[in-house]
This record gives sequence, C-alpha cells and structure tokens, in this order.
Amino acid sequence: MNKFSVIGNPINHSLSPMIHQEFAKEFGIDLSYEKILSPVDAFNLTAEKFISSGGLGFNITLPFKINAYSFSENLTENAKAAGAVNTINIDNNIIYGENTDGAGLVNDLENNLEQKIKDKVILVIGAGGATQGILKPILDKNPEKILLANRTKEKSLRLATNFSKYGKVCGFGLDQIKAKPVDIVINATSASIAGKMPELANGVAEGAICYDLMYGIETPFMKWAHKNSALKVSDGLGMLVEQAASSFAFWHGKKPQTQPVINLLREKGD
Ligand code: ATR
Repeated sequence: MNKFSVIGNPINHSLSPMIHQEFAKEFGIDLSYEKILSPVDAFNLTAEKFISSGGLGFNITLPFKINAYSFSENLTENAKAAGAVNTINIDNNIIYGENTDGAGLVNDLENNLEQKIKDKVILVIGAGGATQGILKPILDKNPEKILLANRTKEKSLRLATNFSKYGKVCGFGLDQIKAKPVDIVINATSASIAGKMPELANGVAEGAICYDLMYGIETPFMKWAHKNSALKVSDGLGMLVEQAASSFAFWHGKKPQTQPVINLLREKGD
C-alpha cells in the first residue's frame, strides 16, 4: 500500500484524507492517507517514524510548516521563498520539501473563480506566515503590483523588501490603505480565526474580488466585503483543495480534477 499522511497539532479537523482519497479514485491509485497528531515539540521524531514505517510522502499543517522546512534536505523555489514546507516527498531516501499553498490560491483564483492575476492590482492584508507562502506564486503571475498592508507596518515593509526580487510589491500600514478600489483583496491575517475584521477602508472592496484564506464559516471579512459592494466573495475552501491537488501532483506526477471535490465539500458543509 502507498502510504501518505498529514501531520499537525491539532489534526482531527483535517479534510486532507478525504480529499486525497477522492483524487486517488480518479486515477485508480490505491493509497492510505492517515492523520497523524504530533506532539508540538516532537515533529522530527513523528516524521522520522512515519518515514521508517514506509511512508512515501506527507502533508504538514499548523504548527509544523517551519519545522518541515528545516527537516527537508532539498527545497523547491516556492518552499525557499515561503520559508515553510507543507508537502514532503521521499524519493531514494532523500527528503524533498515543497510548498503548495500559494499555487493553491493562484489556481483557485484563476481556474475556479476565473480571475486572472496578470496586470491586476492586488491588496494582500497581513504579513505573517500565510502571506509569506502566497507572495511568490502571485508575483510569478505578473500582477501590476501587490499592495501589502499590515497592522504592524514594519513587518509588511520588511516582507515587501524581501519579495521585491520576484515582482512589484509595496509595503504599507493598514491605516495607509485609502478607499480606492483594487482588483483583488486577499485576507491573509489570522483575524478571522478570532472572529475579527482587520480595520480597512471600506472603499477598497468596491467591485473587487475579496478572498479570505480561511474556510468553513462566513468570516467577518467576507461579511464586510458583501456589505461594501464586492464583485465576488470567496472563502479559502477552493485553495485547500487546490493545494492538495498540487501536493498530489508532487507525489504522483498527475494533476487531479478539483471542481468535483470542491463541490462535494461544499455539499457536506451545507
Ligand atoms: P499566520 O501564520 O496565520 O500568517 P502569523 O504569522 O501569526 O499567522 O500572522 C498573523 C497576521 O495576522 C499578522 O500579519 C497580524 O498582524 P500583526 O503583524 O500586526 O500582528 C495579522 N492580524 C491578526 N489579527 C489581526 C487583526 N485583528 N487585525 C489586523 N491584523 C491582524
């Protein structure tokens, strides 16, 4: 049996086993995909145990993506830029680390929501780990520019400087963002987890695609976007399925269809 898994803490809520089994069905691949709860201070031990039990690859979720980066022996360009790894593949005893989060977002925006990124003005809110994972894949699609705004301005300035080698990205404090509309607004803060909304000028949402990386509930950001005349509002469920599809391709060399799985998860969530 081809053995895969996802390692995290907590892990019970993870939809990844179900998503990967659905993908595997499409190609008639027989695999196991289990959830592994790792103690917070023992990621390496947990990962090594899984590998020595015959594990061929695994996903890594919170809070271990930076541990997985250090654990990897060989990193893709996306993983290097993100400073974090969410997918590991074992090949010839070498540990390869990849980060598919940004590709997941880009593919959801472009293929499922039909929003091309090229030449668009994109406002990204937040300058934490989630933002670091998505900046390079967005910049690789040649937007006109990314406006990167964060409550703590120093962090967005630093991140903008670090990523300017990949494209045009300018750092701001949240309070510097004017009410001028942009094409796409991405909420990459952790505010939604706390049921909060970043303090943003209302006018930016007008006619924009507003995307929250979080999924599962309608977040305060999504409610705010609806109220402020956004063209389209999306949660991050499509990104979850798309990042899984890119992980699947990293392991199996085949890109599965995502729309049926997104539909299935939306039906289950209703
Ligand atoms: P993650 O890995 O999810 O990105 P993180 O690295 O802790 O988590 O970063 C959280 C991000 O959400 C930060 O950009 C944080 O802003 P600060 O740098 O100012 O702390 C942002 N954030 C969290 N709660 C917020 C809120 N209520 N309003 C605005 N920004 C918020």
